[in-house]
Amino acid sequence: MPTPVEQIKSRLSIVDVVGSYIKLDKAGGSFKTLCPFHNEKSPSFNVSPSRDAYYCFGCNRGGDIFSFVQEIEGIDFVDALKILATRAGVELKRENIGERTVRERLYAIMDAVTELYQGELAKNAEVSAYLLGRGLTEKTISDFRIGYAPNEWRLAYEHLKRKGFTDEEIESAGLTKAVEGKGYYDRFRGRVMFPIFDANGRVVAFSGRVFGNQKNQDGTDVAKYINSPETPLYDKSAILFGYDRAKMDIRKQNFCILVEGQMDLIMSHQAGTTNTVAVSGTALTERHLALLKRVTDNLVFAFDADDAGLAATGRAFQMALALGMNVRVAAIPDGKDPADYILKNAEEKPEAWAEVIASSKHIIDFYLSSLAGKGYDPRDYREEVEKKVLPLILAMQSKIEQAHFIVEVARKLGVAENAVWEEVKRLKFQGGAITHSVTPQGGEDRRDELPRGNIKSRRQVAEEEIISILLWQETHKEPAINVPVIRRSYEERIARYAISGMRPDDDQTRILIIKAEHTYEHGPGLEVAIEEMLDTLEAEVLKEMQAELLKKIHESEGRGDKEETKKYLQQYQEVTPRLIAIEDRKLKRSI
Ligand code: CTP
Ligand code: MN
Repeated sequence: MPTPVEQIKSRLSIVDVVGSYIKLDKAGGSFKTLCPFHNEKSPSFNVSPSRDAYYCFGCNRGGDIFSFVQEIEGIDFVDALKILATRAGVELKRENIGERTVRERLYAIMDAVTELYQGELAKNAEVSAYLLGRGLTEKTISDFRIGYAPNEWRLAYEHLKRKGFTDEEIESAGLTKAVEGKGYYDRFRGRVMFPIFDANGRVVAFSGRVFGNQKNQDGTDVAKYINSPETPLYDKSAILFGYDRAKMDIRKQNFCILVEGQMDLIMSHQAGTTNTVAVSGTALTERHLALLKRVTDNLVFAFDADDAGLAATGRAFQMALALGMNVRVAAIPDGKDPADYILKNAEEKPEAWAEVIASSKHIIDFYLSSLAGKGYDPRDYREEVEKKVLPLILAMQSKIEQAHFIVEVARKLGVAENAVWEEVKRLKFQGGAITHSVTPQGGEDRRDELPRGNIKSRRQVAEEEIISILLWQETHKEPAINVPVIRRSYEERIARYAISGMRPDDDQTRILIIKAEHTYEHGPGLEVAIEEMLDTLEAEVLKEMQAELLKKIHESEGRGDKEETKKYLQQYQEVTPRLIAIEDRKLKRSI
């Protein structure tokens, strides 16, 4: 028996579903149109009936009928399933009463254990003193239902059992772990307990902060924070800590402050800045951003603004910009986190936190000025800007905004606007060049993540770009470049040294050709652009050759082989005029 999803998919085609929301134009075997998910002037949204899928080359969104309806209606999978089931005439079994009760009972468990922890906190003067010492008031502690899980193995487990909940229920609420043959023990022990609420203010999870000196069996420190696992109530990628309390104010003030930790969030709310939410222990996802986008388009990140912090947030910045949101960064003075900064100023200057937020800077200005303050030499500065700032500009949805910041970057770097545009295009070709790592979902510690994926050398990317433009233009009815001339130039100058090994008939190459088309189809200057690319690539090749020859010169000198040395020296010197010729051409083009 096929599942409802399979039944629906067999009855509704991707073209029917997408076509019922937007007009599709036939283009060969597939359909093309303006992407409904991001602003664009030329269509990069493709619908492929044969693969039963859609894909946008502009914003990289893609998927099947379900993801399309989810995305375009702004709803979750279950609701999309309901809509499409109705359309397809597929009957879904009603969510049975039993299942309702399962969820209700999980909410009841979370509520009961929250009360237990609150009671334990009230009994423990030491923990209360710690929280007050960190600046929380009694009222805040009770408003946020903060509690304490004593350092005992089965306190919560036994409490909940007495209340009539089953082992399985307690475990599926994420509160206990099972040990083979030994039964259950509490997940949270010896920790300050911060309940995590859903959008309706119900407790769905906990974040527990270590209290006192605790070591693992092997003598290492225990994790500072332990968070609930994903449960039927708790979907990490969809819940933001504090959202339930913040959403009204976010709407009213039309901006949202994002902080990292639960203490940061609670202190911010206590200081009266109630339009604050926290990601608390997970990576910021597109769904988090979509949740916020329902209430505002304006974000202020008050995260760790050191290099590691910014790198970890890089991907979130790009996602937010790609959703058309305005992104600002608030730098907290003295390298403090919000909680510590608010506490430090609580007595003398309670408005200090609001001032930090008010003095936030647009993300691009923030990067440009913080990079400028680091004393890089001009070349490194330029490289840093290319690496950190251009991907953000590329991610922006508004072309006007993009243009504005390209002018700014060009001015800061002292180069022509066009050069910056070209660099942004190149980045686009490389697929957005998100060089920062994506923090993992649900990991206990999200600090030591390294960038992953195999990164092609700049040279290989350049090579592939040139070849794909050539392949695309060679099959084009009205080529925008003199194809034979450029082809010959490529063969003479570079083909011999090629490293990319592209074959015109493989899938990878086909995708690159499509990308080349999307990147360069509109806008003049392809001929100049590709000549520049050839020059840049040839210069790279020549520099590599010289480095290689230099090594050989040193080696043969070391051996005392005068003949060899002379030969290599001569070869080395032959390369130099070719490099100078390239520099000359570049110079002529720029004036
Ligand atoms: N975090 C986590 N797991 C860890 C460390 C941190 O989930 N092992 C999350 C927590 O939400 C924490 C946030 O990342 O609040 C920021 O971490 P960190 O700066 O180390 O903690 P603080 O918020 O400063 O915690 P505190 O002020 O209580 O020391
Ligand atoms: Mn802190």
